[in-house]
Amino acid sequence: MRPADSSGMYQAYMNWYEQAKTSWEIGIELELTPSNIIYSGMGGSGASGDLIADWVWNRIEAPFFVLKGYHLPKWAGEETLLISVSVSGNTEETLSAFYEGVKKGCKVVVISSDGMLERVSRRASSFIKIPKPLAPRVGLPYMLYASLKLLESIGLVDDREIEDSIKVLKELKPKLSLDSKDNPAKHLADEIHFAVPIIYAPPLMAGVSYRFKASLAENAKMDSIVNVAPELCHNEIVAWERMNVDNYRVVLLRYEGEEPEIRERMEAIKEIVEESGQEPIEVRANAGDRLSKIVQNLYVCEMATYYSSLLRGVDPLSTRSIDRLKATLKRRLEYIHRYTELEDWATS
Ligand code: F6R
Repeated sequence: MRPADSSGMYQAYMNWYEQAKTSWEIGIELELTPSNIIYSGMGGSGASGDLIADWVWNRIEAPFFVLKGYHLPKWAGEETLLISVSVSGNTEETLSAFYEGVKKGCKVVVISSDGMLERVSRRASSFIKIPKPLAPRVGLPYMLYASLKLLESIGLVDDREIEDSIKVLKELKPKLSLDSKDNPAKHLADEIHFAVPIIYAPPLMAGVSYRFKASLAENAKMDSIVNVAPELCHNEIVAWERMNVDNYRVVLLRYEGEEPEIRERMEAIKEIVEESGQEPIEVRANAGDRLSKIVQNLYVCEMATYYSSLLRGVDPLSTRSIDRLKATLKRRLEYIHRYTELEDWATS
């Protein structure tokens, strides 16, 4: 494998434990008892919402809804906590949802490092500033742990599982580093970098699977297929009756202590893949609690996307197509008028 690239991505990925600690130490004093929560953010900034949703769905009373788009659901209102997350602070979908939230009287908390969201949040909402990472995906722990701190500070989740998950990042760091001999991320990259990975995950790993796909595209410029069980057993599995297996490499995201219905289902999927002549690769988290397991598989998969970029000889940092689309859409939609309205409102 080639040495680390010069983009700074490797160092930033190796800094995940420190990022998590920085955000976890932010002091947040808010009194909120929302009836429901909307987590709004796109791409690398929305990813934390998926991970948190997988963790909290059966442990908090309030519905937790992840929004990746312009408009809030009709039910959003004064009882809603809207968490608006954007590294640049200039992503139009997130700004649009933020403005709708303000107009609907939602309690809005912004997590950002810059841009318009920082400027306008001073007026109508609480602002949590995070350091600006090289790219949102590589700064994921800044957003994840600032968001978890927010939920903890308003009494929705407790701190123990979160602190344990931060320790997982610390323990994994040497194992995932470039000079580690027995590196699960390098092993995974070796297996997938030449194919189209098909990533199958149980619900606890749904957010991880989607982030894996997203970072494979952004870092390694690779497409992949993602699906979540049990749903995939009701449709996608039929494709295995006529699969050209040579083009694909199946990755199963798993964890110790899977519930019986999950374990048996993942085993049954594995058997079908094996019958087609392919041995699936299993990424299996063995860390303590559910959040730690999410974080463990996330870090291994994320580093595998980085190592895949090295194996493929591509620049992991550049995401030209995203920049191009943002610029084109901004022009086409003349969103700038709405920015002006928002800015006027924020300073009036
Ligand atoms: C990931 C990435 C994108 C952005 C997304 C939203 O590294 O660059 O997925 O996260 O376009 O941008 P921000 O985070 O600035 O709101």
